[in-house]
Amino acid sequence: MDSQKHLFSLDPTIRYLNCGYKGPLMKASEQAAVDALIRERNPASIKPEDFFNGAKEVKGRFAELINCDPLQVALIPSTSYGFATALGNITCEPGQHAIVLEDEFPSGHFSIKTWCDKNQAILRVVGPDKDAPTPGESWNRKILDSITSETAVVLMSSVHWMNGLKFDLESIGQKCKTEGAIFIVDGTQSTGAAEMDVKRFKIDALICAGYKWLFGPYGMGISYFGHAFDGGKPLEESWLNRTNSQDFGNLTKYDHEYTEDSGRYNVGEMSNFILLPMLNESLKQINEWTVKEIGNYCQVLTLPLYKYLLSRGVTVEEEQFSSHHLIGLKLPKEFDSELLVNNLQENKISVSNRGGNLRVSVNVFNTAEDIEKLIDALEASRLII
Ligand SMILES: Cc1ncc(COP(=O)(O)O)c(C=O)c1O
Repeated sequence: MDSQKHLFSLDPTIRYLNCGYKGPLMKASEQAAVDALIRERNPASIKPEDFFNGAKEVKGRFAELINCDPLQVALIPSTSYGFATALGNITCEPGQHAIVLEDEFPSGHFSIKTWCDKNQAILRVVGPDKDAPTPGESWNRKILDSITSETAVVLMSSVHWMNGLKFDLESIGQKCKTEGAIFIVDGTQSTGAAEMDVKRFKIDALICAGYKWLFGPYGMGISYFGHAFDGGKPLEESWLNRTNSQDFGNLTKYDHEYTEDSGRYNVGEMSNFILLPMLNESLKQINEWTVKEIGNYCQVLTLPLYKYLLSRGVTVEEEQFSSHHLIGLKLPKEFDSELLVNNLQENKISVSNRGGNLRVSVNVFNTAEDIEKLIDALEASRLII
C-alpha cells in the first residue's frame, strides 16, 4: 500500500503523527456529512426506514472488521457509555474481584471502580514489572496469573494507550473463559489499525471510540456485546430499540420486548443522520484497505524510527509486544525535553505526551518524510556530552 494522504484533508504543512489523539476525517466522510446536512434541510426526504438502514450498514461494516455477527453490534456515544452498559449487566458473587490495568484510560478505570464500589468487590490493578526494561512479557504474564476463579470481570485496553504496548488478548481471553470471568476490552487504540477478532480473542464486550483509528466523527462510538450479554438490560429505554419500532403508526402499542441481540444496547437516537454516514464511509474504506495492509504500512513506515532509536541506545519494547501504529518513547536524559518540544513545534510535528511517553501514532496518511522529520527533530534535541 502507498500513502493514502490524498484521501484526507490534512494541513500539508503539519506532520500529523497523532492518530491516537484524533484520527483525521477522510474526504469521503466530510462529503457524507455535507450531504447529510443538506438532506436535513428537507426532512421529508428522510423515510422511516432511514431511521434503521444507516445503522444497519455501519454495524455490518464494523462486524466485518472485528469478525462478529452484525446483530451483536451496538452504537454508543462514548466508551464510558459502553462500559456502563456492559458492567450494568455483570453480577458479582461475594469474594469476587475485578481486574484492571495500571494506568488504564480514565473512562475504563472509573467505570470498573464504580462497579466494584457498588458490588463491594475488590479492584485488582495489575501493573508492569517496574524493573523490566521491556515490560511486555512479564506484564502479560502477571495479567494471566491474576485471573482466577474469583475474577468476575477483566476490563482492559487492547494496547496500552500511552505507549502502544500490545497485550496478548488471545491468551487473556482464553484464561477468562477457563475461569468464568467476563472479558471487556477497550479497543479504541487499536481497532482499525491492528487485528481485532472478538471470536479468536474470546472477548465478551468490545468498546471502541470511533474518532481515532476508525476515522469517525467525535460523538459516535461502536461496540460489540457477545452472548454473555444476551437478554440484558440497556442503560436507557429508547423507542428505537423495541421490536415494533419500525411500525411508526403503532408505537403506543407499547412493546416491552427489546430488539434482538445487542440492538437493545444502542444509544437513543442511534440513527444519527449526520454522524452515521461519516462513520460508514471510513469503515467502508478501512475494510477495503484491510487492517492487515494498514498494519504492514505502519510497520514499514516506523522501521527507520526503530532503527534510529536503537542506534541512540533507546530501549524499545520487544517486537511481539509492540504495536506498529502507536509507539511510546521513553527518552533517556541526553534528549533535552525542552529542546525537543521546541523542535517539534518549530517543525510543526504533532505528537502527544502521555504519562512521560512521547507518543507517536501513525496511519496510512503518513509518509516516510513525516518520520524523517521526526528523527531530525529528535536528533537535534540530543545534548552532545
Ligand atoms: C484507550 C482509550 N479509551 C477511550 C478513550 C476515549 O473514549 P471516549 O472519548 O469515548 O471516552 C481514549 C482516548 O484517548 C483512549 O485512549
